[in-house]
Amino acid sequence: TGSSLPLLKAPDSTLSLLREGYDFIARRCDRLGTDGFRTRLMLRPVACLRGPRAAQAFYAPGRMTRRGAMPGSVLALLQDKGSVQLLDDAAHRHRRGLFLRLMTPERLERAARILREEWQAARMGGREIVLAEEIGPILTRTALRWCGIETADAAPRLRCEEFEAMIGGAALVGPRHWRARMLRRRSEAWAREVIRAARAGAAPADSPLAHVAQHRDPSGLALPRAVAAVELLNLLRPIVAVGRFIVFSAHAIVTRPEALAALPDTPEALDWWGDEVRRLYPFFPVIGGRVRTGFDFDGHGFGPGDWVLLDLFGTDTDPDAWPDPLRFDPMRHERARDPFAFVPQGAGSMEGGHRCPGEALTAKLVAEATALLRASRPEAPPQDLGIPHDRVPAAPVSGMRLRLQEPLP
Ligand code: HEM
Repeated sequence: TGSSLPLLKAPDSTLSLLREGYDFIARRCDRLGTDGFRTRLMLRPVACLRGPRAAQAFYAPGRMTRRGAMPGSVLALLQDKGSVQLLDDAAHRHRRGLFLRLMTPERLERAARILREEWQAARMGGREIVLAEEIGPILTRTALRWCGIETADAAPRLRCEEFEAMIGGAALVGPRHWRARMLRRRSEAWAREVIRAARAGAAPADSPLAHVAQHRDPSGLALPRAVAAVELLNLLRPIVAVGRFIVFSAHAIVTRPEALAALPDTPEALDWWGDEVRRLYPFFPVIGGRVRTGFDFDGHGFGPGDWVLLDLFGTDTDPDAWPDPLRFDPMRHERARDPFAFVPQGAGSMEGGHRCPGEALTAKLVAEATALLRASRPEAPPQDLGIPHDRVPAAPVSGMRLRLQEPLP
């Protein structure tokens, strides 16, 4: 029985993946004229897929598990034993509800307001800054306050160091990866203490911290303290990760002045700008899954246990799904788009599945930061604005050196 997903000739693609990063899957698909191929990574057989049809197949309800789908090194930094991403079925839906319930319009507004305050308190105006260095502490304080954690007691500089190491170290091997593992352990110890104190009454009522600390599993038992701590980190760390999109938004402001000038002065337009940043700039490269129930894709039969990588970045820039895919054009989001072609944070339904529950919060914070950046009319001195695609997660080489006009908005 032939498969129409071609098998690469190279016996193993691990080195090519490391070398080509974000472009590894899409480049091969383009060359082969397919939306997928088979190869081996770390000697394990894998199918690599891209494009809206692949995203739809990957995100069909109940089809995939995240267990055994990411290298252990990535898992150790971004997720952990007992965390929402490794659950399936009813247990998953129940835990996921904890995150989804936090994404109310009022809470999103509050996050934007706190971000604005912390942005102003950082006093970035009138001097040359490296945005990639400034934004971490701002977002760490934003995340802590939003969750209901007193920043003065939380050693925000240590927390920022930990969150950034987890985000930056996930796709690394070697000493920087091990440093990040060490910092993750430090962060978990801190988070367990925060949960303990919250359960002893220290969490503000109805705060995200209180929700995590008081969450009960379907049988009515409180989460083990270590699991609650991991879920607290699953709220805090990705809020700090939004800084990567904010740096990319600054990159777009500086390098696409014509797109900025053409942007209508409306709140939706800021959302379109943010969506275009999330679509076009490389952040979360692929999502891994293992098949639970078999299915067919492009004539290839997938069976239980098969390992699949869905190319998120390659789908967001798929030439069959997006006209002129590499052009930065916020206005393209004014029109209805194929929901399975826009997948920077996963796809499928919000209720079931594993699609990022923090997507609305991410969009809110990116839009708010874009408004703040635009209002401070940034000037960029000469610098290396390149974004190498072989580093995951990617970032502008210069870190975005900017001079923001006083007074800050
Ligand atoms: C899952 C991306 C921000 C919380 C995910 C997934 C991706 C992603 C690709 C996996 C989807 C899957 O397995 O199918 C991002 C990116 C962000 C971001 C690029 C930008 C910084 C956030 C924020 C939060 C958050 C702000 C929470 C406040 C989570 C959680 C999961 C998740 C809890 C696991 C969901 C599950 O397995 O059901 N995210 N995310 N993320 N994200 Fe995000």
